[in-house]
Amino acid sequence: MNELAGKHIVLGLTGGVACYKAAELCRLLIKEGATVQVVMTEAAEQFITPVTLQALSGRTVYGSQWDAREPNNMPHINLSREADAIVIAPCSADFIARLVQGRADELLSLLCLARPIERVPLLLAPAMNREMWAHPATQRNLAQVAQDGAVVLGVGSGDQACGETGDGRMLEAEEITEELIAFFAPKHLAGHKVLVTAGPTFEAMDPVRGITNHSSGKMGFHIARAAREAGAEVTLVAGPVHLPTPRGVRRVDVQSARQMLAAVEQQAATATVFVATAAVADWRPAQASEQKIKKDGSGLAPTLAFTENPDILASVAQSDRARSGALYCVGFAAESHDLLAHATAKRARKGVPLLVGNIGPAAFGQDDNALLLVDAGGHRELPHASKRLLARQLVQEIAARLPSLPPRA
Ligand code: CTP
Repeated sequence: MNELAGKHIVLGLTGGVACYKAAELCRLLIKEGATVQVVMTEAAEQFITPVTLQALSGRTVYGSQWDAREPNNMPHINLSREADAIVIAPCSADFIARLVQGRADELLSLLCLARPIERVPLLLAPAMNREMWAHPATQRNLAQVAQDGAVVLGVGSGDQACGETGDGRMLEAEEITEELIAFFAPKHLAGHKVLVTAGPTFEAMDPVRGITNHSSGKMGFHIARAAREAGAEVTLVAGPVHLPTPRGVRRVDVQSARQMLAAVEQQAATATVFVATAAVADWRPAQASEQKIKKDGSGLAPTLAFTENPDILASVAQSDRARSGALYCVGFAAESHDLLAHATAKRARKGVPLLVGNIGPAAFGQDDNALLLVDAGGHRELPHASKRLLARQLVQEIAARLPSLPPRA
């Protein structure tokens, strides 16, 4: 989606096996529209050649502060002044220690030190053996670089090149790209706690069967991601869907409407925004059989009785927190026809300030949609676009409707 269009990134590589992932990262950043200037330490060049990074970035790689290509012979000044962000991936334990000390005896640490600290953010994607990661010296250094203004992106956990298993793997290229996109997003929801429901629910008939629907959960997952990018602390209560959790979002998996209600009630006690995108099953089998229902040979199908599920959105919208204005509730309406009339009626029925309508069958499982926002002031259309873009627009629309937060103590 060209989400980094217009951004110029200095991508710094330091010594570590994870250098192989930096090649993919460089490619992804460029795919998202960024221009990338690669700078490598001598140690990084032991793991991957500048030729690879030059080919991927379309620019010659810098490795020395004595590079005669710069007319003023000051690559540390020139490269850092051009950058919208400096990303060090992989960032070795040694390089973190160098940053802590403010070392300047090779180009990459020199340009980090020389960067205009208010204007050029520094993001670090550490990569190292689990013992090195857990060492008090590394943890102390990480705390110090964070205090000095660097953004530490964290590490993954799992198998390491050394054969050990644990924390310290560099994040995947997709994850670092996602973090960088989030970093640049305007923080419309800073200080807010956003709760999102997404996906279908599954209502069991017996241990192997149940009723559900075609909701893919995509819209809710995109909203959770966009809210987190906008600076909110986000909890996503998800029905059974096959989607990766957006980075930085806390996910609670549930199956049935009643489980979803329980999870939502717990989170709604502290949330400031609730967005209900889940396609909750309206009914569930009145009695779920503990054993698989078998054919009895009579040729007759079993008769199932249904009972109505709790209305999660309506019940949260009637809570004291929502009624006092401490929790802003947003409902969704999946309709097949007469969208405006149904969405307007549903907004009143659910008792929510904002109701977002869409034509359900056209949107289920798709990557794009169109939304109709209905609030007390009237209605407004968010025209056909990707769910990703719509989610960002919706988050902005929600933020604009929120009462301002009380100043933090
Ligand atoms: N919703 C909910 N709990 C339910 C049913 C719906 O929280 N048991 C929420 C949905 O997440 C959505 C909104 O209510 O935000 C409207 O969902 P929708 O299925 O369109 O409406 P229903 O209330 O089921 O009305 P109907 O099926 O009659 O259109």
